[in-house]
Amino acid sequence: MDIGDPNKLQGDGGFSGAVHGDARTAQVAAFQGRVDERMVEPAQRVSGSLSMPGDKSIGHRALIFNALAEGRAEVLGAPDSQDLNSTLRCLRALGVEIAGELSGGRVVINGVGVQGLRSAAEGLDAGNSGTTARLLMGVLAGQQFDTRLSGDWSLSQRPMLRVSKPLEGMGARFSYLQQPGCLPVVIHGGRLKYGELDMQVPSAQVKSAVLLAGIVSGWGCTVIDRAMTRNHTELMLKEMGAPIQASNAVVCIGEDSKLSPLNMTVPGDISSAMFFAGAAALLPGSELTVSAVGVNPGRTGMLEALRRMGAVVELSNEQTQGGEPLADITVRSGGLKGISLGRDETTAMIDELPLLAVLATQAEGRTEVRGAEELRVKESDRIATIAAGIRAMGGRIEELPDGFVIEGPQKLQGGVVDSHGDHRIAMALAIGALAAAGPTTITGAGAVSVSFPGFWEKLSSVVQHG
Ligand code: S3P
Repeated sequence: MDIGDPNKLQGDGGFSGAVHGDARTAQVAAFQGRVDERMVEPAQRVSGSLSMPGDKSIGHRALIFNALAEGRAEVLGAPDSQDLNSTLRCLRALGVEIAGELSGGRVVINGVGVQGLRSAAEGLDAGNSGTTARLLMGVLAGQQFDTRLSGDWSLSQRPMLRVSKPLEGMGARFSYLQQPGCLPVVIHGGRLKYGELDMQVPSAQVKSAVLLAGIVSGWGCTVIDRAMTRNHTELMLKEMGAPIQASNAVVCIGEDSKLSPLNMTVPGDISSAMFFAGAAALLPGSELTVSAVGVNPGRTGMLEALRRMGAVVELSNEQTQGGEPLADITVRSGGLKGISLGRDETTAMIDELPLLAVLATQAEGRTEVRGAEELRVKESDRIATIAAGIRAMGGRIEELPDGFVIEGPQKLQGGVVDSHGDHRIAMALAIGALAAAGPTTITGAGAVSVSFPGFWEKLSSVVQHG
């Protein structure tokens, strides 16, 4: 099956093209109702111990995969975030009984089997969540009914051909309703065939969509993932008894998959933890421990980057839970210095690069990030939005098509910055604001609840001002 390069078909264009600057900010705010503000004061240091909400990537998979299992599973600690609630709502709309709410820290999922979902008459809304949309595209392409899938303003700009093209190679059919390759889309359910994908875009969401299609079709598939993106899907499917083999860059799903329910506790989210680790690395005299965090090697790139920049990073209480490695992470400040990162290093820290940019403004020397063009098609164009935030605080950053260059250390003054409706931009700027000379107001600050409800409260619990 030749599926070509799905990214090229759509260019980089999905997100960054359509609307810019103030118009885009206003649209994001109007669409998402995130017009709230937070003021962050400069801080002297951070210290203490804290836990994180459950991992977003693992949480989505725990809900979706258990919905496709045969029997009941209890999932503890999935985050009560907007994104996970989008997945929960979609699964319920597809006829899956789920007792409890994410706000209660425990849900019990009555799995319906790989072909047991029911048609969602009203359609599905994935909200802001790319993982919800893309993984469900793989699942729903192989069900025997059609589904209309939509998302919020940001998700509706993000590229979906990277998922639908490989699935079409397996016999799936999609009708994009507005812009080609963007939500909303009708997924025409039907019988799929065996699939093969040699991934051109380093995306665990694309890989997972194809693996799930291979599971629900009963025919299996092979995916080659040279970038070695996060492997939460492979680990969890294995724990659930799926016929999966993963070695080096090749993942194979065999025929006739059935999934056993998996009771599990979702580990703390390393991407959330890194904002606190970053604050500890940034502010002299800081020491902070974040407990029970997932340390899957596909996600720990930022820990290595912090070490290379000069912070002291220690792991303790290392254990394995449900196939996923876990540890407590302690970070102590050290004089930060600039580093260079290329494509090989950025995949395992793709969500942390906006934070790295902010830290680089305070590091001695040059920081250069290349090979990270995926940043341009996240919840916002994260190269453009983090650059806008750093500049609005008085800093300097050179944008590159696939990354950025920052010469440090620089004085950040503070000021008014905007999240652009992007949770990770809001949190990265909040950490930068701790090192600024004056206060920083972050507009659209409520976006943090997309992945990290309670972020502002946790931040104020570890910050010391004098
Ligand atoms: C995710 C994969 C990454 C990441 C996103 C979550 C996942 O996206 O940025 O926050 O859960 O598989 P891509 O697959 O688009 O790289």
